[in-house]
Amino acid sequence: MPKLTFLGHAAFLIEGDKGRLIIDPFLEGNPKATLKPTDVQVDYVLLTHGHGDHLGDAIAIAKANNATVIAPFELATYCQNQGVEKVHPMHIGGGYDFPFGRVKLTIAHHGSMTPDGTYAGNPCGFLITMDGKTIYHAGDTGLFYDMKLIGEMHKIDVALLPIGDNFTMGVEDAVKATEFLQPRLVVPMHYQTFDVIAVEPEQFVKQVTSKGFNAKVVPPGESFEI
Ligand code: NI
Ligand code: MN
Repeated sequence: MPKLTFLGHAAFLIEGDKGRLIIDPFLEGNPKATLKPTDVQVDYVLLTHGHGDHLGDAIAIAKANNATVIAPFELATYCQNQGVEKVHPMHIGGGYDFPFGRVKLTIAHHGSMTPDGTYAGNPCGFLITMDGKTIYHAGDTGLFYDMKLIGEMHKIDVALLPIGDNFTMGVEDAVKATEFLQPRLVVPMHYQTFDVIAVEPEQFVKQVTSKGFNAKVVPPGESFEI
């Protein structure tokens, strides 16, 4: 049964029976982070896009752990050019069976450029199926109607959705996203890290719970099993 730990912002550690992953490890310089990059122990690093608040410490973590970076092609290539030895490039709509489980890339309406100005291709979201459970990490995105299709085609056990507004969906759109996705549990992310995304996550939980969904705010550093 996968154990998820919220590391603040959009960063999650996922520990399954057959592997440990970290998604969007923005830890150094993240005021909400509870884990130091040097304390991370993982086999895989998954990146939704190249923005600094997602790429974060990915390269240092991948090198220190000899971990494989899974990312859209251009971003995986960027990591390789930065000296990461093991990368697995993918792209939107493609899935692959890794030893720990399956990863499929979904669309995300956003941008993707690394902090040094390198073009990093299209941003993505991830559908991760491991130990019989399906996790949807939306990445940074606006609301899109194809979330309904994602919900129809996959039984999502937990959806990790941005709610911070300004750069991504805000609360109202994230509530609609939840209706499209029909997850067993929805956990908000990408809020309060910066002043412009100072959204109250309880507001999202209250609204989505009133529509009959199971939702919870996970404080940074806390873990939950699905
Ligand atoms: Ni972004
Ligand atoms: Mn972001």
